[in-house]
Amino acid sequence: MQANTKDIKQISVFKTLLHAKSMSENPINFFQSNLDESDGIIECRLPYHFILTDRPEIIRQFFQKNHKNYIKTKIVRNDLGRAIGNGLLTSNGDYWLRQRRMIQQGFNKQRLKVISTIMVNEIETYLQQVMEPLAEQQLEIDCTDEMAALAFRIVGKSLFGQSVNEQQMQLMREVIRQVQEFVVDCLRKPYLKPLYFLSGYNRRVTKLIERGNEMILNIIRTRKANNQKEDDLLQMLIESKYEDGSSMSEQQILEESIILMVAGHETTAMTLSWTFMLLAQHPTIEQQLLASILQAIGGAQPSMTDLHKLDYSYQVLEESMRLYPPAWIVDREPLEDDTVEGYSVKKGVDVAAFIYGLHRNEKYWPEPDKFDPERFSVDNKKRHKPYTYLPFGGGPRICIGQHFAMMEMQYVLAMLLRRYRFQLTHEAAIELHPLVTLRAKNGIRMRVSKR
Ligand code: HEM
Repeated sequence: MQANTKDIKQISVFKTLLHAKSMSENPINFFQSNLDESDGIIECRLPYHFILTDRPEIIRQFFQKNHKNYIKTKIVRNDLGRAIGNGLLTSNGDYWLRQRRMIQQGFNKQRLKVISTIMVNEIETYLQQVMEPLAEQQLEIDCTDEMAALAFRIVGKSLFGQSVNEQQMQLMREVIRQVQEFVVDCLRKPYLKPLYFLSGYNRRVTKLIERGNEMILNIIRTRKANNQKEDDLLQMLIESKYEDGSSMSEQQILEESIILMVAGHETTAMTLSWTFMLLAQHPTIEQQLLASILQAIGGAQPSMTDLHKLDYSYQVLEESMRLYPPAWIVDREPLEDDTVEGYSVKKGVDVAAFIYGLHRNEKYWPEPDKFDPERFSVDNKKRHKPYTYLPFGGGPRICIGQHFAMMEMQYVLAMLLRRYRFQLTHEAAIELHPLVTLRAKNGIRMRVSKR
C-alpha cells in the first residue's frame, strides 16, 4: 500500500474458482455481493486482473475527470478491433479524437430528421411483412430475435439507404453475428485459441470478414463513382471533412460503417426487448404508455416534431435501461498510475465500471428493483446525483448514437404498442445472460396478438 492510500479489497482466486461455473454463466451476482461487502470497489484476478467499481465518483474519474489516462482495453483495441476495425468504438488518442469530432458533426439534427423518415418507413415495412402475419395467428415469438432483426434493418438502412438490398443486409447481419460469436469465444475461452487456429475457425471468420468488407467497399465505391447524393449516414461519412479540409479514405469509411452497425443494433434491440418484457409484467404502466401514445399521435405515423409529446415513452425507456443497461460493464486500461477517492490504481491493471450495479444501488435508487418510470419525470430527474445513471457511458466517449437510439426506440414502441399486444408465455423469471451486451438467457418468449 502506498502512503495515504486505502487498500482495495482483493477477491481471492480461490473464492473466484469456487464460483467459477456460475461466474462463467452470469458474474453479476458474484460481483454485486463482493462489492456490497467492500467499499464499492474490488480487485479481481479471474478471468482477468481488473478493478471493478459501482461508485459514481470513481467511475467519473475514469470516464471524465482523468479520461486521458483511461483508454480502451486490449480486448477492445486488439480482439474486437482486429475483427471489426479501427473506428470510433475501438480507437484511442489523437486518431479517435479526430474521427469523433468529424463524425459528431454528421449526427446533427438535420441528418437525424432525414433518418427519422427512414426509420419510420423501415418499422412500417417490418410491421406489415413480419409482425402482422405473426399477430394474426397469435404466434409465440422470441422478442429478442425480432427486435434484433428490426434494429439491424433500421441501422442498415439508415447507413446505406437505397444502396443496400435485402440479400446484402442479410449477409452483413450474418457476418456481424458470426464475428461477434468468434470474439466472445476468444474472450471466454482464450485457452482454446490454438484450437481455433488449427481447426480453421480463424480462417473461416477471416474469409467471412473479407466477404463482408468487399461488399461494403463496393457500395461505397459505387456511391462515390456515381456521384449519387443520398440522405443517409454513408453520405455523411463520405462528405464529412477534417479540420484541414480532407476526407476519410475508403478504408476508414468502411471501418466506421461497420462500427456503427455493430454498436447500433444489439444495444437498441436488447433495450426494446427488456422494455416489452417489463411492460407485459406491469399492465398499468403499459396502459398509461398506450394512452399517452394515442394522445400524442393517434394512428398517424410519428415524426421528429412528435418526439416531445412521446415523453412518457422516453421515461419508460430510460427506466428500462436503468434496470437492464445493455452496456452492463464498461472497461478501461490506465496508461499511468492514478489515485481515485483514496485508492491507488496501477498502470497495467484494467478498471471496469459496473453499470448494472450502479443502476441498482439503493443509495441512489430507492427500491432499486422496482420498475417505475416516474423516476425519470422532469422534476425527479433534477434530483438524480451525477454519474449515477450511465446507460450511454459518460465523458468524451459517451455514445455518439444516443439521440439516434432514443428516437428509434420511441418510434418502435409507439408503432408496435398501438397495434399489438405482447404477452409473456413463460411464468418463470427471465434469467440474465451478460455477454458483450446484457441479454436474456433463453430469449424473451412472448405471444403477439392484434389489439
Ligand atoms: C440503447 C442503445 C445504445 C446504448 C445503450 C449504447 C451504449 C453505449 C455506451 C455505453 C458507449 C460507451 C462505451 C465506452 O465508453 O466504452 C457507446 C459508445 C458508442 N456507441 Fe452506443 N449505445 C446505443 C446505441 C447506439 C447507436 C444506435 C449507435 C449508432 C448508430 C451507437 C454508436 C456508438 C459508437 C460509435 C460509440 C463509440 C463512441 C466513441 O467512443 O467515441 N450506439 N454506446
